[in-house]
Amino acid sequence: MFGFKLGKDFLIGTGNSAFQSEGAWDRDGKSENIMEHYAREFAGKYAAGYVPGTVDITRRMKPYSEDLPDRGCFFYDHYEAYIEDMKKTGQNTYRFSLSWCRIIPAGVGEVNPKGIEFYNKVINKCLECNITPFVDLYHWDLPQCLMEKGGFLNPEFPQWFEAYAKVCFEAFGDRVKLWSTFNESDIAVTSGYGTNRFPPFREGNREGQLAGHHVLIAHFRAVRLYKSMNLGGKIGAVNCFTSITPARMCQEDIDAAARQTERRFGWWTEPMLEGRYPQRLIRECAYVRDNMPVNYQEDLDRWFIPMDFLGVNYYICNRTQYDPDRPMLSTYVENFYSSPGQQFAPYPPGLLDVLLYIKDRYHNIPVYITENGCALENINDPEKECDDPERITYLREHLRMCARALRAGCNLKGYYYWNDADSYEELDGYRLRFGLTWVDSSTGERRWKKSRHYFSEICKTKMVD
Ligand code: FCB
Repeated sequence: MFGFKLGKDFLIGTGNSAFQSEGAWDRDGKSENIMEHYAREFAGKYAAGYVPGTVDITRRMKPYSEDLPDRGCFFYDHYEAYIEDMKKTGQNTYRFSLSWCRIIPAGVGEVNPKGIEFYNKVINKCLECNITPFVDLYHWDLPQCLMEKGGFLNPEFPQWFEAYAKVCFEAFGDRVKLWSTFNESDIAVTSGYGTNRFPPFREGNREGQLAGHHVLIAHFRAVRLYKSMNLGGKIGAVNCFTSITPARMCQEDIDAAARQTERRFGWWTEPMLEGRYPQRLIRECAYVRDNMPVNYQEDLDRWFIPMDFLGVNYYICNRTQYDPDRPMLSTYVENFYSSPGQQFAPYPPGLLDVLLYIKDRYHNIPVYITENGCALENINDPEKECDDPERITYLREHLRMCARALRAGCNLKGYYYWNDADSYEELDGYRLRFGLTWVDSSTGERRWKKSRHYFSEICKTKMVD
């Protein structure tokens, strides 16, 4: 009843991704990825096909930032100092992604020894500091040269991905024991290929579902390969889970919330764990049913293999209500916790709801909260930005929810705060800042924020006040 404990084996640390943190985007043989490519193409403008002023609260109603991800937080140059800081923080894990473009610059074929060398140094430094690496194979940064061949829409995508995964498992699998295949397929695929909100800005549910199907097959092929290599680690995937509540007290809205949850989370999680798409969506929504890939179940039957754990990114909540005229028979309405247009309004109790849902629905599979983080505006004032009580409250409230979930029997294995240091935020550039470390995005100068000191106490005691 009293006190919030995380347990001594709990993994707790920070995370970041390659394209957001590394910088050095064209150094040592690395090629361009889609995140860099579209940031450059649309800098300061609305992305292609985007309709300004669209009244849809889930759409990002603003132009692309003028900033480019080319510098990140200078992790490529300062990885040692960053990892030393993690050690000082007392965290026992760090989640990061590998850049496909650094490892295989042409997308397929020749391996770039400098790419392998960089990640060897990062992994070895982590291990030297007693930090368990959690490695994502794919965090949104598809090589642009593969995009030019259709990206996820190319039926060869699963083979390309498996070949890339093989290089990574062979190079790093002796030391990396926690792997994930794809980060947030809902955003990369549904928003990227289905609804034109995210690179590569394509629209159409038939394409969206086909792209997603190829991603799922790629995921299975990588998991199969990993298991066949007997490297002794675990492999999963990272899906995002928005806590969706019914807008009104009626069954129609409860069903609407369930449909949205299945669309955004179940669409990936159910095939990955049970080998089929959410049947009720196919039954109830023509938009889904009429756009299913040919022979989808045969493909799933052929490639399905369960994964070991589920990574969950949790940031926000949404409210939704029944609407027979919308594709998912539901529409989002403004929620109670955000001001209009606010992208990352915190709702800590939603994290407990999400963990309890997974416990019940997915048979208490091991879960890592792979992302959860507090966005504050860049005000170009390091003093003020390093004094961040909002972020301290955010950490306290969400980690209390983790402790409550553990007490309620959830199989929660770890928590990664997003993110380790102020970095590039997709579409928002260096304006939105999540870091526990303040970073000057032009020079790379770093300072600990107060929230990092607070997080450090939690990491060291495995308790929350
Ligand atoms: C998630 C992404 C991550 C970061 C946070 C704020 O959707 O996985 O790269 O941008 O949001």
